[in-house]
Amino acid sequence: MPKAFYVTTPIYYVNSVPHAGHALTMLVADVTKRVHEMNGETAMMLTGTDENALKVFEAAQEAGEDPQAFVDRISQTFKDAADELHINYDFFFRTTSAQHKAAVQALFAQLVDSGYVYLDTYEGWYDVSAETFVRESELVDGKSPDGNEVRKVSEENYFFKLSAFGDRLLEHAEQNPEFWLPLGRKAEVVSFIKQGLRDICITRSNPGWGIPVPGDESKVVYVWFDALINYLAATGWPNPGWQELWPAEVHWMAKEIYVRFHATLWPAMLMAAGLPLPKTVIAHGWFTFNDAKMSKSKGNVIAPSDLISHFEEAGCSHEIAVDVARFSLIRTLPFDNDSNFAIGDIEKQYNAGLANDLGNALNRTITMVHKFTEGVVPNAPIASEMQSAIAQAKAAVATSNEELRFHDGLEATLELVRDMNRFIADRKPWELAKTNDASLPSVLTSLLFALRAVEGLVRPIMPNTANAMLSQLGYKAEEATTLYNQIGEVTRLNVGAKLAEPTPIFPRYQPPKMETQPTPAIKPEPQEAKAETQAPMIEITDFMKVNLRVARILEAEAVPDSEKLVKLQVIIGEERRQIIAGILKSYDPANLVGMQIVVITNLKPRKLAGLESQGMVLAADGPDGKAILLTTEAECPEGASVH
Ligand code: MSP
Repeated sequence: MPKAFYVTTPIYYVNSVPHAGHALTMLVADVTKRVHEMNGETAMMLTGTDENALKVFEAAQEAGEDPQAFVDRISQTFKDAADELHINYDFFFRTTSAQHKAAVQALFAQLVDSGYVYLDTYEGWYDVSAETFVRESELVDGKSPDGNEVRKVSEENYFFKLSAFGDRLLEHAEQNPEFWLPLGRKAEVVSFIKQGLRDICITRSNPGWGIPVPGDESKVVYVWFDALINYLAATGWPNPGWQELWPAEVHWMAKEIYVRFHATLWPAMLMAAGLPLPKTVIAHGWFTFNDAKMSKSKGNVIAPSDLISHFEEAGCSHEIAVDVARFSLIRTLPFDNDSNFAIGDIEKQYNAGLANDLGNALNRTITMVHKFTEGVVPNAPIASEMQSAIAQAKAAVATSNEELRFHDGLEATLELVRDMNRFIADRKPWELAKTNDASLPSVLTSLLFALRAVEGLVRPIMPNTANAMLSQLGYKAEEATTLYNQIGEVTRLNVGAKLAEPTPIFPRYQPPKMETQPTPAIKPEPQEAKAETQAPMIEITDFMKVNLRVARILEAEAVPDSEKLVKLQVIIGEERRQIIAGILKSYDPANLVGMQIVVITNLKPRKLAGLESQGMVLAADGPDGKAILLTTEAECPEGASVH
């Protein structure tokens, strides 16, 4: 079997709950895998849980649970989080598995035999929270450099000859520029190694939990030494077949476990064992939440499931809400620097990028195809400017994917979508239709073709959205763009297909509180405005049939269980009436009381949400779909006629 592309996340400690930070690394690994699959490769992804740590054991004891039952339970929550986000992992690897234990013991024994692991006495400090040994000289006010409590330990232990590998690591990185990424963090590793590497203690006295040292049950393997081996253990090493996966192409993680562990210790361990090194070890920054690192202990945790349900409540289908969560994580990806992960920003990015840009481009295009070519995909040439916008986006996404900068690729795709919206505004298909202009089919074909490209470009990040777009564009599921080089291929346009009616997939997010109404406006369709000014002519006598009067709002309250409706009690002259108006998204009922408005009084009463409406208020269509009530320029007698 040819070697598969192999990408990993850290394996997570099971003393916490999965949150957006863990989800982020799972997602970048998942996107890495999907990108390589779209390059036609076989790709495999590993994630999982790190279960042998002393702090995990202590967390179980604190919870009064059997440690294995405890780790089984918490490990499952990480697996669930991965599944919820549609992470397409191949291994959910656990360090309490027999496969992992056997691999750790085999590697340990091999390094003892080769002399890279030796017995000595460790006297010093241990930081349980970070599971790290700390030197006396590194203590700051009696705590670890990270501010954690430390414990004194004095034990006979095994040491790994890390000091022997500094120069070899630097040399390897010199010859393999993609080994330590991104470059800013590479500089940190180089300076860390140049300060001199010390041998490291890789065993602890056995607390009754962990992987026993082969041949010495009184000790367990230090949890980092144990955990790093998971990447190799999952390939089946040392059993035959491991080379079908190893070496990993990409190890993803965040910055706190990069320099010392993944960029230095792990490759040194592999070198000592004579095994090939991973191709790229890459760290992203942290999500902060209101500028603190997201963590359970700080109580500032956003779980992936919270994000998904937030957008379901906003009206997205479940599948699309999963994609919105994926979009938000990648859009905010802290690649070079940390980034603050705030729900308000996420909502704005959703409204701007998905509800407005992508949602609009998709909906307007399909609506126009229905209006102007009876829903049939025209056979016409693709405008050169659209072709070059697609080629530009495709090239930018390819470069971003290669550099694992998926946030940049997403931005380039959104730029293509904005190009589409500009193209619509420039070409004004509704005017071309009025004059039967011969270029109309080409404009529509160009837009459909661009959407087809967007479907392929967003697929690794938003697979459900890509599928929804595909079906709206009249393709069958098996016609999905699964290979990157198919993007922008003219032959993949489904000329002559009949499109289904447009179905908006990204409803605009409306914040529940009126005072925080944010969000840029979706401009109303110009052709609709035009169409309305061209409504059929009527006689003045027709207009006179409509009885318009000034009314004053006496009472206003939201209709229970309705997102849109307000129940108004109005006074028209002497007469009091109840009117149900769909203005809740635009007005706080409390602000309506006392306002003079214009109502139609001679419409047949009708029931809305089970309540009788005895008239209709007049309102203009404002920007972004808001209703703007018509009122009088000066105070009028109640019930005055309007004509
Ligand atoms: N068990 C070790 C890793 C061993 S790998 C051989 C560990 N576990 S952890 O549960 O603490 O997970 C740390 C990782 O979770 C980070 O490196 C990162 O991938 C992810 N993140 C956790 N919180 C995060 C943020 N606030 N922001 C970004 N990533 C975060 O360390």
